[in-house]
Amino acid sequence: MSRRDERIVTVGMTGASGAHYGLRLVECLVQADYQVYLMLTKAARIVVGSETDCALPGRTVEQTRYLSGLYKARDGQLRVFGDEEWTSPVASGSGAPHSMVVCPCSMATLSAIATGASENLLERAADVVIKERGRLVIVPRETPFSSIHLENMLKLSRLGAVILPANPGFYNKPVQVEELVDFIVSRVLDQLGIDNALMSRWGREG
Ligand SMILES: Cc1cc2nc3c(=O)[nH]c(=O)nc-3n(C[C@H](O)[C@H](O)[C@H](O)COP(=O)(O)O)c2cc1C
Repeated sequence: MSRRDERIVTVGMTGASGAHYGLRLVECLVQADYQVYLMLTKAARIVVGSETDCALPGRTVEQTRYLSGLYKARDGQLRVFGDEEWTSPVASGSGAPHSMVVCPCSMATLSAIATGASENLLERAADVVIKERGRLVIVPRETPFSSIHLENMLKLSRLGAVILPANPGFYNKPVQVEELVDFIVSRVLDQLGIDNALMSRWGREG
């Protein structure tokens, strides 16, 4: 797996609830001057439309332009790839970034990654990160979890993936939804080794 440039992160958004987590993660990565390779499944695009004000266009070229404008990304800093864009860097160990985050991760995609299905580019990208021993962070969203979900998470954890469920803590006394979102995004950034001040740190005040 390419370590030529550690300042690239692959982000996959799926059709689980919690589109805000994925979009905020992309925004923070752009602000931190990282390059982002982004994939949204068909279901993710539906959830983005139903949960957020983000008016995501249909074609990936337009999605790249729209999100780049929204998050003030530099030219080429943010690239959206399509479900079957097999020529993209994330499809091969020779070109894929070292780190990938699936946020939010549906139980369908969790299962596909756990079995190595690789039926769309997002699943293939995760498969590549696992085979190349890269860093894979998965943010599952479902409640309650069935034994199937738990077994898939355990399997991926044993393969080295970090399972970082979308269940924010309340010890910072959040008032706004944004604070809950930032709690999870902060923990994802921590896993990627990216400095951030999105939340106050336990025991560090005063
Ligand atoms: C508004 C909305 C919310 C959903 N929330 C969840 C969820 O939290 N977790 C989940 O596993 N699936 C959820 N689903 C169902 C998935 O979108 C569905 O299983 C889909 O096939 C997932 O496809 P993907 O993994 O390719 O994105 C939701 C669907 C919709 C429309």
